[in-house]
Amino acid sequence: MINYEKLAALTEAESARFHKEHPRSVELAARARGSLVGGVPMPWMQRWASPVPPFAVRAQGAEVEDADGVVYLDLALGDTAAMAGHAPEPVVRAVSEQLARGSTTMLPSEAAALAGEELTRRFSLPLWQLTLTATDANRFALRLARMVTGRSRVLVHNWCYHGSVDETFATIDPNRTDGSAIRRQGNIGPAVDPAVTTRVAEINDLRGTEAALAAGDVAAILIEPALTNIGIVLPEPGYHAALRDLAHKYGALLLIDETHTISVHPNGATAAWGLEPDAFIIGKAIAGGLPGAAYGMSAELVDRIGKGIALDQIDTGGIGGTVAGNVLSAVAITSTLREVLIADAYPAMIAGTNAWADGVERVISDEGLDWSVTRLGARAEYHFRKSAPASGGEAAAAVDHALERYLHLHALNRKIILTPFHNMALFSPATPASAAARHTEAFGEAIRDLLAAGVIQK
Ligand SMILES: Cc1ncc(COP(=O)(O)O)c(C=O)c1O
Repeated sequence: MINYEKLAALTEAESARFHKEHPRSVELAARARGSLVGGVPMPWMQRWASPVPPFAVRAQGAEVEDADGVVYLDLALGDTAAMAGHAPEPVVRAVSEQLARGSTTMLPSEAAALAGEELTRRFSLPLWQLTLTATDANRFALRLARMVTGRSRVLVHNWCYHGSVDETFATIDPNRTDGSAIRRQGNIGPAVDPAVTTRVAEINDLRGTEAALAAGDVAAILIEPALTNIGIVLPEPGYHAALRDLAHKYGALLLIDETHTISVHPNGATAAWGLEPDAFIIGKAIAGGLPGAAYGMSAELVDRIGKGIALDQIDTGGIGGTVAGNVLSAVAITSTLREVLIADAYPAMIAGTNAWADGVERVISDEGLDWSVTRLGARAEYHFRKSAPASGGEAAAAVDHALERYLHLHALNRKIILTPFHNMALFSPATPASAAARHTEAFGEAIRDLLAAGVIQK
């Protein structure tokens, strides 16, 4: 049981402290409100736990410095976009050199060919296309899946997130058992009711998945190998093999979005867990903090696509982006994958994450809380529930925005950035071994403050 009145008082005290220690960010926020809606360039930036967001002036390695000179340990790493660490030297060098030689020509480049080769070497799929964002990579892969199958719908996991892809903002219709979808809470201005475009099943629910596929109208199953955006939810043993079989049985393509699960293994969960995607989507981390994403396809899928596209209409077919496929993204992808986010970096990243998770578990157990921790390679997250969630629905039910907000704000005031809207930490090759201990200490203090104030009980 949470006492929200007492929680509000604690949050107020932390807010006042942040306000006092961040005069310059407060000033910049007021100024930005004159020209930016809510004082921020993207709506979600309004949701920082602090009274105003810290305004960033520098990000290097695992550190972010704000306009007030506060240097944070960054465990958010741009929600994976900076998983290679901020401003990694090889990427800065390669991109700066290229920038001086131009960036957008509408022409292919050797750099793009090198990026394609690196993506194939790393993630196995033989043929690739580049985009600027994982959102676009998902959108384009979905369009192609609909085109080649002649079917209209996509099947997604309940409480999934794949970027701002219209079809994926849907949750399970609680009154139906055929995977019917309803609008996800907060879905802004959908073009059509997602019930028309989408079916939904829980991760780990093979019966529900089969029911959703039974009508034979699903073009593609678009999934993350583990859910990472509603709290981490891991697949159960055998789930992925059975899902692959169901995709074959019902003629649906399997699109695997590895944008976050690249934390599992340098070659993604696909390699670590033996998955067999028809298309593989990845963004964020692969471009070392620059805009760059990609989708890879099986040779068979590319062959099927080739038969369906008229070259004359290729620029108006709904797969586009004038600055996508630019040489800067290509250079950033190649240098990140070859020189920074390399296999040799993973053991230390995963060891650091395990130390972080061990620390959180120790506090939870020492203080007698009903909370749990889930690990996914270089990423880990705690949940406000006794056991790790087995489905998106279970994970969503455990979310507590007020409590989460307090913990984030408390951490910010101790110079630690957690991934906003998650209780999650990510480790980069640049994250120091001391990061886990620093977080454990701050987290322990937050929990003891919550207990002492009577917000939570043992
Ligand atoms: C699994 C997954 N796919 C795709 C995206 C979209 O990435 P972007 O916002 O860079 O387009 C996200 C963003 O969080 C994600 O978590």
